[in-house]
Amino acid sequence: MQESTTARARDVQVSRCETLAGGYFLLGITAPEAAAAVEPGQIFMLGLPRHSLSADPLLNRPLSVLDAPGAGADGEILFLIKQVGRGTRLLAGLQPGDKLFAHGPLGGTFPEPPVGGTTILVGGGVGIAPLYFCLRRFSGIAQLVLFYGGRTAADLPLRELLATETGTDVRLVTEDGSLGERGLVTEPVERFLKQNAADRIYCCGPNAMMAVVHRIGASAGRSVWVSMENRMGCGMGVCLGCTIPVRDDRGAAMLRVCADGPVFEAGRIDWELLARSPI
Ligand SMILES: Cc1cc2nc3c(=O)[nH]c(=O)nc-3n(C[C@H](O)[C@H](O)[C@H](O)COP(=O)(O)OP(=O)(O)OC[C@H]3O[C@@H](n4cnc5c(N)ncnc54)[C@H](O)[C@@H]3O)c2cc1C
Ligand code: FES
Repeated sequence: MQESTTARARDVQVSRCETLAGGYFLLGITAPEAAAAVEPGQIFMLGLPRHSLSADPLLNRPLSVLDAPGAGADGEILFLIKQVGRGTRLLAGLQPGDKLFAHGPLGGTFPEPPVGGTTILVGGGVGIAPLYFCLRRFSGIAQLVLFYGGRTAADLPLRELLATETGTDVRLVTEDGSLGERGLVTEPVERFLKQNAADRIYCCGPNAMMAVVHRIGASAGRSVWVSMENRMGCGMGVCLGCTIPVRDDRGAAMLRVCADGPVFEAGRIDWELLARSPI
């Protein structure tokens, strides 16, 4: 995993662990130094403390930072996590005060948007996490429009938090119409681009969704950046379990999401080949 100069492996304390709807939960850790340094798009590998009897290095899981609201001694870093298996279930069972292994901040970041322009954020599922962090960090720099999509209202666990964000243009979209506009999140994005100027698109979610956003953005001549959330193995650039196909001036290649990403310019990715990959 690409290390930032402030990346460090450490045992930290859990500051909160709050259950949200739809199998999601909010996990907070206290890590003042990292909270001051972390940037949108970066991740942490989280696992059980190194000295705990049940510690298992293979259980370290990659998670995008949702926010780093605190500065100073209480510096808190927040994660939005969906329970899908053993690792995320263990994290969901933590209590404030429990110890946790945290390695980060790791990886590349979303670039700062052009000053005074409009940047579109498109998030689906847990992919909303790095985009919410973009919203928190970049809202004074550019006008941000966030499109947040899921199958049902329960798949939009950040909806209440977003409702408290004043001055933010948030468009909710659900496939069943239980909240916001009915349909796929990519539909209002395409409409918006036909009617409005926008410099950039930042996107994170299922690969199929990001492929469509890339196609829409490319045909409108917009620069699209995506954060990839492939399954990972070692998380250290060794096992090649997280590679994605790319194609650029230098020809075709495979890049490691953990070591070369997780943020990529979407135009570099071979989306057709990726759709045929078993990840
Ligand atoms: C760069 C990056 C950032 C991520 N950010 C977040 C985040 O902010 N919040 C969050 O909840 N999750 C995030 N993930 C996904 C998260 O790492 C996995 O859900 C987690 O590792 C699963 O661990 P587990 O032990 O609970 O599940 P496992 O027991 O390992 O797997 C359970 C099930 O989940 C599936 N699964 C495992 N990993 C993934 C994945 N990456 N994508 C899709 N399905 C998967 C497996 O195929 C299996 O069906 C991110 C992944 C990456 C690579
Ligand atoms: S997880 Fe990326 S190389 Fe092992």
